[in-house]
Amino acid sequence: MPERKEKFYLTTPIYYTNGLPHIGHTYTTVVCDTVRRYKRMRGYDVVMTTGTDEHGVNVERAAKKAGIPESEFVANMAEAWRSLWDELGIAADEFVRTTDIKHVRAVQWLFKLCKENGYVYKGHYTGQYCIHDNAFVNDAKPGENCPDCGRPLETLTEENYFFKLSAFQKPLLDFYRKNPEFIQPEGRKNEIVSFVESGLKDLSITRTTIRWGIPVPGEEPHVFYVWFDALTAYLSAVGGPDYEKRGMWPADVHFVGKDIIRFHTVYWPAFLMAAMLPLPKQVWAHGWFLMDAAKMSKSKGNVVLPRPIANMLGMDALRYFMLREVVFGQDGNFSYDSLVTRYNSDLANGLGNLASRTAALIEKNFAGKVPKSAERQPQDDALAREAQAAIGEVLERLDKMEFARALEAIWSVIAAADKYLTSEQPWALGASEADQARKGTILWTTAELLRIVSALAHPVLPDSTAKVWALLGQTTSLDSLELDGLRWGQLVPGTPLGKSQTLFPRVEKTEAIERIESMANEELNSASAVPKPASALATPATPAATPAVPEKIGIEDFAKVEMRVGQIKTAERIVGADKLLKLTVDIGTEIRQICAGIAQYYEPESLIGRKVVVVVNLAPRKLRGVESNGMVVAASVGPEGRPVIAGFLEDVEVGARLK
Ligand code: MSP
Repeated sequence: MPERKEKFYLTTPIYYTNGLPHIGHTYTTVVCDTVRRYKRMRGYDVVMTTGTDEHGVNVERAAKKAGIPESEFVANMAEAWRSLWDELGIAADEFVRTTDIKHVRAVQWLFKLCKENGYVYKGHYTGQYCIHDNAFVNDAKPGENCPDCGRPLETLTEENYFFKLSAFQKPLLDFYRKNPEFIQPEGRKNEIVSFVESGLKDLSITRTTIRWGIPVPGEEPHVFYVWFDALTAYLSAVGGPDYEKRGMWPADVHFVGKDIIRFHTVYWPAFLMAAMLPLPKQVWAHGWFLMDAAKMSKSKGNVVLPRPIANMLGMDALRYFMLREVVFGQDGNFSYDSLVTRYNSDLANGLGNLASRTAALIEKNFAGKVPKSAERQPQDDALAREAQAAIGEVLERLDKMEFARALEAIWSVIAAADKYLTSEQPWALGASEADQARKGTILWTTAELLRIVSALAHPVLPDSTAKVWALLGQTTSLDSLELDGLRWGQLVPGTPLGKSQTLFPRVEKTEAIERIESMANEELNSASAVPKPASALATPATPAATPAVPEKIGIEDFAKVEMRVGQIKTAERIVGADKLLKLTVDIGTEIRQICAGIAQYYEPESLIGRKVVVVVNLAPRKLRGVESNGMVVAASVGPEGRPVIAGFLEDVEVGARLK
């Protein structure tokens, strides 16, 4: 055990807010929560971070579909994620939202450091972009589909800030060599090393085509590329620019799915190297939970939700299944059938049955108090040795993230105890002093084994092991038990047992699956946790009038409208006018005050610095008592006429006339 409390900082990815958690996301989070509990029981000062990734085009689109501003949309979604983790008993120490101001500052700070150190420059980029994955796809040709998600790519050109990723090829390869444990599992490491060896291209880290993002200070309309933004969450959670004060950075392990390993093992360390900040110690990539051999996704309609499973079988059952069924690092198949089978065999018949049998026998024969272990026979000692050996083995397995093997070791001890009880038959012994003594030895032995098992399995099954612990009359908290002090023989005779309760009631398979599925359907169809869709919010549309054929105008008519490039200097809301923003706009010759009906769709701060098209020769008028001297041009999009401000893909001079 560490001498003084050593820190351990671990993270889940931060989850996209354009959807709600399914068991794939739950898997990453459960793994992380298990390690968090385990490390705490090994005496570490542990911090676990999770959170929500709230920027980017997908959120813009989802918010639009829901008919609400992005800020409201992401606030609702972040709450849905946070409360689901709470409900599932997963309590991270830090929950980062990428719209939090402390995170925004951390991203801007990291960019500044990279820029000051000479790793950032301005350029143009044209490429094939996957809007779903928020990423340009290197080497893709126009018309191709995204190699990751299969959706069509779009050709995009924009002015970007570039990160000199190419400068980090050698430093990264050196880093991997010097830190052979950095990328786990081993197989993934080879994949990343050959990717880096094949050459790294500079990476564009800002966007002008996206509005919903963290602004690059003084460089609006540039916003940060979502991955530059998202990865920084790990650092902003533990202090951002003040990370040294909190003392948690660098992360000890980032848990991620195999789909996002490159971002974590190439980009992230390169950003940190550029900023001269300490690098995380390890990135652990797990496989996917597959449904019928395909990755779960809402669009495929094959998602499995955690809540109905937790309601039917308990969260511990889902945690146990995930960690027991799949070798950590590899893909695994999810099926309700194997979930319920494992529940009945390992939990109801295994741990649950051993605990209730032992407690009932102690209740009946020893008035509910832990008996004494009298003279021991070889089979008692054999079981003791097995349990003692399991302590070492389980700790070793958990240290290596071999969750399935750790659970296998624990369950083999449970099976041995079952066999022991069955062959020793304490229920068949009489009331003589010798028989009573023998019964005491047998029951003390199984009770002690249960105590050890509860402690070892606690990180995976926090609820049910705490119940077994209490059943054995243990009054200390299992969460704070130090596993390094766990030894065979510590169960004190005479300890009164706690109240007995059924841990895992057996379930009938078909019925259980039907109930889980019907709860899942209900949840998927209910809009309760999801922000309201646009259709539910929009006022009923009036039947469209037959469109009038527009009268043609001459060029002299068009010339009457004077449009110029303006740059927004300030933007603020107008009290009592929900839809209006008051802007001051530099049109080259003067600064104008203009009111724009865009308040429901644009955050005032996001507009500062943005170059827009202004109709400058419109007669001044008052809107809600505020003078407006000109008009900002915007497209009217969708049935609700959402305004989308017109802008430029290239940099243009303020005051330039549009012709
Ligand atoms: N927002 C990014 C991560 C940014 S971290 C700085 C993201 N979010 S995500 O919501 O799409 O996915 C988060 C995690 O869930 C990933 O690690 C991903 O691998 C995991 N899973 C999503 N579906 C999964 C399965 N079906 N099975 C196991 N995990 C998978 O990526």
